[in-house]
Amino acid sequence: MGPIYSTEHRPAHAPGTVRLEGMPEVQTIPVTTELTPELRTYAESMRDGFFESPPTEKGLEVWHSYLLADGTRLRRIMSEEERPFGLKDHPVATFASWDGTINTGTELAPTNFITDVTVQASHRRRGLMNRLMTTDLTEARERGDVFAVLTATDARIYGRFGFGVTATARRIEINTGSRFQLRTEPTGRAVFAEAASITGLRRELFEKFHASQFLSVGRAAHYWGSKFDWSTQKPRDERAAVHFAEDGTPDATMVFEVMEDHIQIIDLLGLTSRAEIELLRLIGQAEGHEKVVWPRCHDPRHPLPWAMVDSRVVQTIKEFDTIWIRILDVERALSSRAYDVDGEAVLAVTDTLDWCTGTYRVQVSGGRATVTRTDADPDAVLSMEGLSPLYSGIQDAAGLAAAGHAEGSQEGLAKVSRLFGKAQPPVAASIF
Ligand SMILES: CC(C)(COP(=O)(O)OP(=O)(O)OC[C@H]1O[C@@H](n2cnc3c(N)ncnc32)[C@H](O)[C@@H]1OP(=O)(O)O)[C@@H](O)C(=O)NCCC(=O)NCCS
Repeated sequence: MGPIYSTEHRPAHAPGTVRLEGMPEVQTIPVTTELTPELRTYAESMRDGFFESPPTEKGLEVWHSYLLADGTRLRRIMSEEERPFGLKDHPVATFASWDGTINTGTELAPTNFITDVTVQASHRRRGLMNRLMTTDLTEARERGDVFAVLTATDARIYGRFGFGVTATARRIEINTGSRFQLRTEPTGRAVFAEAASITGLRRELFEKFHASQFLSVGRAAHYWGSKFDWSTQKPRDERAAVHFAEDGTPDATMVFEVMEDHIQIIDLLGLTSRAEIELLRLIGQAEGHEKVVWPRCHDPRHPLPWAMVDSRVVQTIKEFDTIWIRILDVERALSSRAYDVDGEAVLAVTDTLDWCTGTYRVQVSGGRATVTRTDADPDAVLSMEGLSPLYSGIQDAAGLAAAGHAEGSQEGLAKVSRLFGKAQPPVAASIF
């Protein structure tokens, strides 16, 4: 094998190829109760990889508490050449993962959550990320995880590893000036709250949401942590509100921050959209600000605009992908999925990592699927990247074929689209 850190940048390859050979050692750092120097240098390199300011002492303390709470696996690659000028002990690549779950409709399936994927700009395009990803995914598969999941800052990177988009979110801006008026009378009761005092309730409501929502993705410890903004490394002045249903049970919570010229929602989650709308009604009445920004409205089909007398006070600024899933165990993922209709289809799957390549017959009866390997001709052929949006129901087989993620006859694609169609597309209220 040649040198790992050759000065040559590797040529671009066709999308879908994954290189494994000639790679440096991946180290997994122990996450101890003490904030060790190697944890510090990991955090500094990770921030550096994103070209963000170094973590502050408070930032490191908060981050460390999350690592312990999540049971995070921290991977790193060190430089083989000595790094001068104070970076001797700093990794050139970072990668973190931890165990969580995804709701398939019939189970909370074990899932490998991935974050902190960085390679120092000086060491990019030499296969380091590739090495970290394949190491981590291999372990996840060996553990029996059904999925791996991540949120991507760059949409071009993860398709080659079999990740595909399964959920999107919207940035919404609400004009809360004189035109802000809801069509309906208030239901239940909405109250302001001290943010730290509702953390337990927020967790409880999220667990209910997660247990009932198809393709909900678990949340990491940072959702329940201290009032600290990791991206700016500054404390955050969080405020909160709770909505109670008519029967007096809490059914939505909101954490928000009052900015200079608007109110920013940090987390708004209800067991129903109606409960979320009631909290927006409360905040919409706050005088002094004429704009509420909901940067990540998790439901792209949220009925909020329909609830307004003037629907145009709610503006969608952009829609963006939030959740990328890589299926690691196709048989279990397909058989534990909740289907809206009964029927049968044969899917051929091609996997760049070769783990899942094969042809699968999916027979659904009473909403439950039996999945078997078969030699039959497939109705559709999909890449792993294409299988995820089909699985989630956000895109159908015909649409995926038009986009170059699937192949099949018109009838075959229609059959697959029917079987995987979802009246309610997935909603995932987690970012990490
Ligand atoms: C994204 C990043 C981690 C890639 O690391 P890397 O070590 O350069 O990636 P690799 O050399 O292992 O590349 C793996 C494959 O992905 C491709 N790839 C890597 N970065 C890419 C990019 N930005 N756009 C398109 N393809 C990319 C490579 O061409 C390679 O494909 P190949 O095997 O067919 O040649 C690195 O560029 C980085 O740290 N970026 C800034 C932080 C960031 O955006 N992280 C992602 C967070 S979600």
